[in-house]
Amino acid sequence: MMAQSPQRDATPTHTALVADSYSRFVNGRLGRGVAGRLGLPRPAVLRRYAPGEALIPGPVLVLGTTPGADALAQVLLEWKLDVRRHAGPKDKLGAIIVVLDDLASPEELSEPIRSAGASLRGLRANARLLTISRPAGAELEPEMAAARQAVDGILRSLAKELRRGATANGIILAEGVTTTDVGTIGAVRFFLSGRSAFVDGQFLCVDSGAGQLPQSWDRPLAGKVAVVTGGARGIGAAIARTLARDGVVVVVVDVPASGDQLAAVANSIRGTALQLDITAAAAGQRILDHALARHGRLDIVVHNAGITRDKLLANMDAARWDAVIAVNLSAQLRMNRDFLGSAALTGPLRIVSVASTSGIAGNRGQTNYAASKAGVIGMVRATAKLLAPLGGSVNAVAPGFIETDMTARMPFATRELARRLNSLQQGGWPEDVAETIAFLASDAAGGISGNVLRVCGQNLVGQ
Ligand code: NAI
Repeated sequence: MMAQSPQRDATPTHTALVADSYSRFVNGRLGRGVAGRLGLPRPAVLRRYAPGEALIPGPVLVLGTTPGADALAQVLLEWKLDVRRHAGPKDKLGAIIVVLDDLASPEELSEPIRSAGASLRGLRANARLLTISRPAGAELEPEMAAARQAVDGILRSLAKELRRGATANGIILAEGVTTTDVGTIGAVRFFLSGRSAFVDGQFLCVDSGAGQLPQSWDRPLAGKVAVVTGGARGIGAAIARTLARDGVVVVVVDVPASGDQLAAVANSIRGTALQLDITAAAAGQRILDHALARHGRLDIVVHNAGITRDKLLANMDAARWDAVIAVNLSAQLRMNRDFLGSAALTGPLRIVSVASTSGIAGNRGQTNYAASKAGVIGMVRATAKLLAPLGGSVNAVAPGFIETDMTARMPFATRELARRLNSLQQGGWPEDVAETIAFLASDAAGGISGNVLRVCGQNLVGQ
């Protein structure tokens, strides 16, 4: 139903805000002093995106001597940022971007990396460090491959050294992709902004110069139509709200039993609701029919619906195993086949799947769930080549510990441990996952396909 009057419901942000009472205490007036005296960790209050806010609070230092570094600095100047090519001793920097797009040997790392290091003490809270480098393919000369792969170790270590909500992430440019191609610019902007608050220690690959920059960075998805499965609550509802904020008309899909919640979400964002079990054979076609009949197009598909049925494998019955594979993986494969085979979809389709860090690192009691989420990652990689000729893209987002009703139900000690075991020492918010999905669903990310981006605060488990 198309809503006439937006109404509010309990937002996931609210869940996230009340969930982590320890963080709230140690960041409060009383708790700050107590934490300082006792030497307790104080998770930073992360800078999160709000439309119209400054991209980055403070000057941006661009290091590197290649033409690619100069060209990127020029783009940042056009964004009216305070760009520096050399750091002064007292600079309080908002970001450091180290451009390493022409590395030939490990020795060449010393100068730019140590220059970045010399500026780290002056970084502001919630600052950003980015590297821009090239893939370390096996076809390269060993010296070049070593230099390029070294960036991986540097970045992942540095992300663990940064404090006060600062993050470090890397962008890897395929051969031929430049520092000013659409995907590079899109990724730089995403990582600098508050949209990437809970993405830390990760790499994103830009494969091609495909895509298009938006007319407005505040409404980068204006005019698009998206479908979000599992949109009645939790992360799915946050994805729907974030896409709507960015200009999308959203179709939210969920099982009939969640009909009331689903309608509330759809109404609050002026979208439409579609009650549907995604494991139904006709699910893909029903989504297509609904989107085209009600909104005239379909640009973005977010496969978010997912379930857990945890048991140690020794105790796993067929019902648990089969249900998780059916909802989390087989349904996505079947729907993608329908979307890719549809003659009615003419524009470039952008698909984003929600995976999980469990599908990367594994998790006790979750062989079924981890199989489904690892399967999603395999599916995404293999689907990228099918969408490329149509100008489309497909990526996965792998959330770590996110503050939702699901994680709120975990036993206290398990939850506290899971929440702190990352470089940012806190759980992410559903909105953090949603922001990353909104970026990957945008035309600015058109050159990015087949990637898996973790939204996990650099969870210490897994790679
Ligand atoms: P949730 O359980 O709160 O929401 C999932 C939604 O999917 C529900 O509204 C449910 O009704 C819907 N759904 C389930 N089966 C469906 C079906 N057959 N057809 C249509 N809709 C169906 O879960 P949450 O926490 O919001 O998770 C969303 C996604 O994020 C899932 O894929 C989950 O595996 C993934 N994830 C969640 C993490 C977390 O910390 N909460 C961490 C990593 C991944």
